Amino acid sequence: MKKKPLIALIGTGGTIAGSAPSRTQSARYLPASVGVEAIVDGIPELRENYAVSLAQPFQLASYDMAPRQWMQLLGVVGAALADPAVDGAIITHGTDTLEETAFFLHLSLDTIKPAVLVGAMRPSTAYSADGPANILDAFRVASDGGACGRGCLVVMNGRIHGARDVSKRHVSSVEAFDSGLAGAVGEVSDQQVRWFQRAWRPPVLSLDLRAELPRVDIVASYAGSDAVALEACVKAGARGIVHAGLGNGNAPPGVREALQTLVNKGVALGRCSRWIPGGLTRNSTMFDDDRLGIWTAGALPPHKLRIAMMVAIAHGLKGSDVQAWLDRVVEPASTA
Ligand code: SIN
Repeated sequence: MKKKPLIALIGTGGTIAGSAPSRTQSARYLPASVGVEAIVDGIPELRENYAVSLAQPFQLASYDMAPRQWMQLLGVVGAALADPAVDGAIITHGTDTLEETAFFLHLSLDTIKPAVLVGAMRPSTAYSADGPANILDAFRVASDGGACGRGCLVVMNGRIHGARDVSKRHVSSVEAFDSGLAGAVGEVSDQQVRWFQRAWRPPVLSLDLRAELPRVDIVASYAGSDAVALEACVKAGARGIVHAGLGNGNAPPGVREALQTLVNKGVALGRCSRWIPGGLTRNSTMFDDDRLGIWTAGALPPHKLRIAMMVAIAHGLKGSDVQAWLDRVVEPASTA
């Protein structure tokens, strides 16, 4: 008899573990209220086709998650995948910050084995629950050889997304996740996996699990904005600031003067667009990034540039080494 793949299923909460008093309720419910074991028990096909090990390091809605939980998860997932018998790991997660946890693990989890994040837009009790199908798909992907060496993946609504490009782009639809211009890396249909893109991942930066991630804040620009928020973040102890700029990363007058002097004050500065698709122009007319020591990262949105900066600073990278690594994060290696 063929050996069943061994998958480590790590529950963290979210809507996929949510419940409501009525089966017709899909938008008003309590997230993170069903344990990961009960979720597996509700899908008999899982134990029929896979050997499953279970862990539940915490049970939270993902809007309650913070960098402390990312570090905890890095330890739990890393330990699970270090077991030679384990073929892949799946993390059930709330969708609000799913892409943040996925990107954090993508940059810091040193493994070629599949690590798949999965969530749901409807609570487990709803007639329209999408969790069971998403979990079945996630198991299929986590046990697929083609998932190896891709870093963290996100499986939602029949699509397989890479952690760098995926974002939640709808507040309630089951088709909430999208990879924008880059596109999904694959799909799962009727338990068949198809890959659209070749396997590739950025160089991973190892982290000391006992250390705290540094504070990095996001400051967004808008018509007429000034430096008040920026200065407040610096005062609060930010080691880095992400400027979520206008258009191609531009800033109104009061903000750009403050930004141009930030790095000289010892605060790292990353520059991106306030989430308009497309790769940011480095060394623009407004910002001479090389001279000012500003970090940029192609099309990364503000919340993902923040994570990349946190990981780089925590790892101990400095100055132009950070930019060289960010360039690798956003561009496939030439061999890809
Ligand atoms: C959460 O992020 O935990 C709540 C929303 C969701 O999972 O869809």
